[in-house]
Amino acid sequence: MQLDINGRSYTVAAAPETALLWVLRNELNLTGTKYGCGEGECGACTVLLDGVARHACLTPAAEAKGKKITTIEGLAQGEKLHPLQQAFLQEGAWQCGYCTPGMILRAAALLRNTPHPSEEEIVAAMNGNICRCGTYPRIVAAIQRAAREA
Ligand code: FES
Ligand code: FES
Repeated sequence: MQLDINGRSYTVAAAPETALLWVLRNELNLTGTKYGCGEGECGACTVLLDGVARHACLTPAAEAKGKKITTIEGLAQGEKLHPLQQAFLQEGAWQCGYCTPGMILRAAALLRNTPHPSEEEIVAAMNGNICRCGTYPRIVAAIQRAAREA
């Protein structure tokens, strides 16, 4: 199966029903996409398929065929961080960082459709992504900063 990930084409050997999460992590060593619950409840595994946020733990690899897959490794442009990555850094929007890739990709999907979201819209959009360290206020501040500065 051919998958288009972060602008590069990969040939993968996994069975079509294998979760995209395991293809990314185990076959391609793209370990920025995290395993949290494996049940669509935490958002740690969030990736973008054609710009839409999806849980990689619940997405069969075959469903991602023909779509542009973006993981956290593909968000920066060379040395230039994505505005959300920059804003998360500036706001110190993490503690352990485990939720951060999924948070940033979920926020990227939000800003793609709603470039200047209200605080309520941010909270609603990010609702399915869990941060066990409780850095939610800083995450919201980082998304607001990225929206301002993008
Ligand atoms: S690991 Fe996919 S939602 Fe938790
Ligand atoms: S920073 Fe630790 S889970 Fe979010």
